[in-house]
Formats: sequence, structure tokens, C-alpha cells
Amino acid sequence: MKVLVVGPGAREHALVRSLAGDPGVTGLYAAPGNPGIAGLIGASNCFPVDALDPSAVAALATELAADLVVVGPEAPLVAGVSDAVRAAGIPCFGPSAVAAQLEGSKAFAKDVMAAAGVPTGASYACTTMTEVQAALDEFGAPYVVKDDGLAAGKGVVVTDELDEALDHASVCLDREGGRVVIEEFLDGPEVSLFCITDGETVIPLAPAQDFKRALDGDQGPNTGGMGAYSPLPWAPGDLVEDIVENVARPTIAEMARRGAPFVGVLYCGLALTSRGVKVIEFNARFGDPETQVVLARLKTPLGMVLRAAAVRHLEHVPPLEWSDQSAVTVVLAAEGYPGTPVKGDAITGVSDADAWPDAWVLHAGTALDGDTLVAAGGRVLSVVATGGDLTEARTAVYGAMEQISLRGGQFRTDIAEGAAAVELTGHLGHPTLN
Ligand code: AMP
Ligand code: GLY
Repeated sequence: MKVLVVGPGAREHALVRSLAGDPGVTGLYAAPGNPGIAGLIGASNCFPVDALDPSAVAALATELAADLVVVGPEAPLVAGVSDAVRAAGIPCFGPSAVAAQLEGSKAFAKDVMAAAGVPTGASYACTTMTEVQAALDEFGAPYVVKDDGLAAGKGVVVTDELDEALDHASVCLDREGGRVVIEEFLDGPEVSLFCITDGETVIPLAPAQDFKRALDGDQGPNTGGMGAYSPLPWAPGDLVEDIVENVARPTIAEMARRGAPFVGVLYCGLALTSRGVKVIEFNARFGDPETQVVLARLKTPLGMVLRAAAVRHLEHVPPLEWSDQSAVTVVLAAEGYPGTPVKGDAITGVSDADAWPDAWVLHAGTALDGDTLVAAGGRVLSVVATGGDLTEARTAVYGAMEQISLRGGQFRTDIAEGAAAVELTGHLGHPTLN
């Protein structure tokens, strides 16, 4: 099977790495890929196609005679890349533009959840500051203000300060077609669960936890994600089943009922509140950086699973097999992220980190300047490691990270720290589990 992976980041690097380990995958291509992906599959198998141009991606897939296209990021999905690939007769893992609205519009997602009876925070979609003010007054602090459209994980402000909430809402409303969602604050630890689906059958992957804030101790602004780990030693034993039954299946059924079957991965971002599991957000794609740790633990060949979803026969896939190892990933971000990242500085030590026992490096915002690897984006690299437990995986991931140098580079030092402590002490119910 020949597979084309669309997207430039560490999530796509993780997908390519797993697909490269699948004996059923005989050809592996990327559009556009990145220097890390090129190192794995060869620069000549990376194509500088505009991932947001549906017909360009479909033409490339046709030229390569791909048997499967896997779309990584949300923007190509919302732009209709999957529709164009399917129209060219090639199976595609990734929802149609219509189905991707589950991520592309928070108001649409809320509407689907209401129709499907899926538990989520109460919310109002507002188009004027008067509506915003009324909604903020009703819910009280902490205030949750979300840009309705795609914002790369940075469109959400959670704050105790009314002024900050109002300022963010006003910025969102000033955009063309601006709409903002004001939501009830959901307390409790967050979980990401990826559910592979062909529009009908749902297969959950292992749950993971992401660290959204830029700084240790969950301080600083929201980012696209600074680290993740899996499994979750503190989670209730029936967590995955609960989410599949009460969140994923009803949502997938509602999308099918609307004539917009969702084929791909439904990323359920959840809060485990005192009143049960509630959806914080849906995404229409694998999460970054959670994919890095989830795929590190998946033993079943990935290509077979993704193709079965794309050709809409997921019911034939046998139960997934998982490693009992723990996995932790830590993101190295450029100076300035999540604001304006500093680009162009040299990154050294990557091959030492890659050679570190039980660890490897996935590229995100990197580029080659001649022979020198340089930072070229906000999130620069993901270092991933596995171990017999979270403590071992943390030791390995930070040992590898210390090999890498990037001027002004920043990473969190507390990824999976709370969960590793829970694992060691057996005490459940840590308040934030970071
Ligand atoms: P989203 O883009 O909707 O995932 O939001 C990004 C992050 O903001 C989430 O991962 C949470 O940490 C936080 N967040 C979003 N919605 C809420 C909410 N209703 N209550 C508490 N925190 C939230
Ligand atoms: N890790 C958060 C996201 O992928 O949206």
C-alpha cells in the first residue's frame, strides 16, 4: 500500500514514523513534510505541494497512485482536501469539509452535541458585545471566551479578569464574520481521546493528556500543546468506554443522520468534571502533541487501520494491540511562542537526542538552511520517549531534550510530573494532574 501523508508537523512525522513501521506500507510520501520526515522517507518523496489546495493534493495523490491519503492538520480538511481526494477515487483518511465543521465551527459542534445529547458546557454563540456581556455575566468567572473559527489552539482565553475576557471577545468579533462562543467554565482534569471512525464504527485509541499552557505549573497563555503523556494512571477504568458510548458514538451517528458522515479521527477533548465527562472541544484530526505518545504505544500496524476507516470497513479491524510502556513527549518551542516566534536560529544536538536510549525526535517547525537545521516555526520539535512507567519515560525524554540546543528555546519541565507521582504513590484524585 502506498500512502501519502499531508501536513508539515510533528504529528505528521509521528504518523509517517508509524506507517514506516507497518509491513503493509510499501511506499510513503509526504506533502510537504519537513526535514525530519525527509530524513525518514527521503527528500525525493516529499513534495512541496500547497496542502490547502484540494486539487493540487488530489493531483499529487493520483500521480503517485496512492492507495491512501492521510490528512494531518485541520486547515486542509476544512478547505476540502478530503473531498477532492475522494472525488479522484482515492481513499482518504480525513473528514469532508462539511464534517470537519465539527472542528471548524465551535457553534456547529455545539449544535451537533445538543442534537446528539452529548454532555458539554452550556454556551452562547454571540455576534455583538451586548450578547457577550450578558453571557459573561450569566456564567461568572472564570470566563471562557472562544473564537468561533479555527485558531490553531490559540483562540481560547480562560481568565478571571472580565476586561481580558471582553478584550478577547472584541478582537474575535472584529474579524470578518466574527462570532464568539462564551462558555461555562469546566473544572477537572482534561483528557484527549482519539476515536477512529469510518462514519459508523468507532475504534478508540489510548487516552492521553495534553499540556496547553506555555509555562510550568499551567501558567502563561494557551498554546497548541507543549507536551503529552499516555496512559493516564489516574483515570477511571471505564473512562474510554464512557467516552465512546456517551460522546463519540452519538456524535458520529448524528453526523451520519445529517448526511455528513465523519470519516477519520474524531478528537474528543474532554474535562472530567465533578458532574461527569463533558466535551471541551472536538477536533477533526489527530491531536498534536498527543499523537506522538499515542502512536508510540500502538502495536497494531497503523496503515491497515487508517485504510479500513477510509474505505469504510472499520468493522473488519481486529482489536487494537497496545504496548504496556508509558510514553511522554515534550515540545521544544522557539523564543516568543505562542506570540511571534523567533525563526532562523540553528538547532544542534538533534542526532544525540535521537540516539538517546528509548527516545526519538520528531520535527515540527524546522527547516534546512544549507546543511544547518534551523527553527522555522513556533513549535520546533517534539522529543518522545517510552519507559516502563511514566517516571522512566520522563527521565528519558528530558535526558534527550538536554542534548538539544536552540537559542531562546523553551520547554516545560513538568510534563507528566503529577501523573508520574500518582503512579508512584497510588494516590488518585490529584487536583490538576499535571
Ligand atoms: P479549546 O481550543 O476549545 O480546546 O480550548 C483550549 C483550552 O482552553 C482547553 O484545552 C482548556 O484547557 C481550556 N478550555 C476551553 N474551554 C474550557 C471550559 N469550558 N472550561 C475550562 N477550560 C476550558
Ligand atoms: N493538542 C491540541 C490539539 O491538537 O489541538
